[in-house]
Amino acid sequence: MRMILMGPPGAGKGTQADLLIEHYHIPHISTGDMFRAAIKEQTALGMKAKEYMDAGGLVPDEVTIGIVADRLAQADCQNGFLLDGFPRTAAQADALAKILSDMKIALDGVINIELGEADLLERLTGRRVCKQCGATFHTVFNAPKQQDVCDKCGGALYQRSDDTLETAQNRLKVYNTQTEPLIAYYNNQGLLKRIQGDKEIKQVFSNVLSVLE
Ligand code: AP5
Ligand code: ZN
Repeated sequence: MRMILMGPPGAGKGTQADLLIEHYHIPHISTGDMFRAAIKEQTALGMKAKEYMDAGGLVPDEVTIGIVADRLAQADCQNGFLLDGFPRTAAQADALAKILSDMKIALDGVINIELGEADLLERLTGRRVCKQCGATFHTVFNAPKQQDVCDKCGGALYQRSDDTLETAQNRLKVYNTQTEPLIAYYNNQGLLKRIQGDKEIKQVFSNVLSVLE
């Protein structure tokens, strides 16, 4: 399975990605996760990405395209992959098309998870993430058994620095201008499958599987 998971910030891409990579046994390529790991390790890439992420903007295309191209060239991507949060601009989509054509492979599908703005903001501002294992929770919709403690590993939960209301609103604006046009781009290629994101996590997952199969 070679797929892209699209949708506005907070639509549930990361949550569904975790379920899909387990189902299809494919690597999860999340540019957001790659940038957050680089920030944690304080690499040059991380320092650069942090500037843009903290403002809710996009990391420049040349940086982002480079890290995805390197990742897709690795051996574990030969039999499939799930791209989450990439591409996000027309230039990224064109670059991806070129990378895949050079690799002589094609996408199987592009899933777009749809959700309205009020729900997106509620999901983003209530999200909590495990410092240790990266698992994602929500204070209301997917609450951990014990407040601020990860169910999976017992690690401490934190709020992402870009999940404040102000930065989340900016991310939605950036999505609307730069990324939303890619829906038409993939629809024109006959690859786009639309999924309603306002259902239970398990229901969304089963809807995604049924459009892919
Ligand atoms: P990235 O990490 O990709 O963030 P995003 O696209 O904004 O998406 P999120 O991770 O915020 O949301 P999600 O859709 O994964 O939702 P989740 O499953 O967590 O990017 C961060 C930043 O990095 C960008 O702003 C940019 O600066 C930079 N960047 C990344 N990629 C880039 C690129 N290609 N080019 C340039 N810059 C790039 O769910 C959200 C919450 O809702 C959670 O609390 C979850 O528990 C809950 N939830 C999920 N599903 C449901 C459900 N069905 N019902 C109820 N609650 C649910
Ligand atoms: Zn954890």
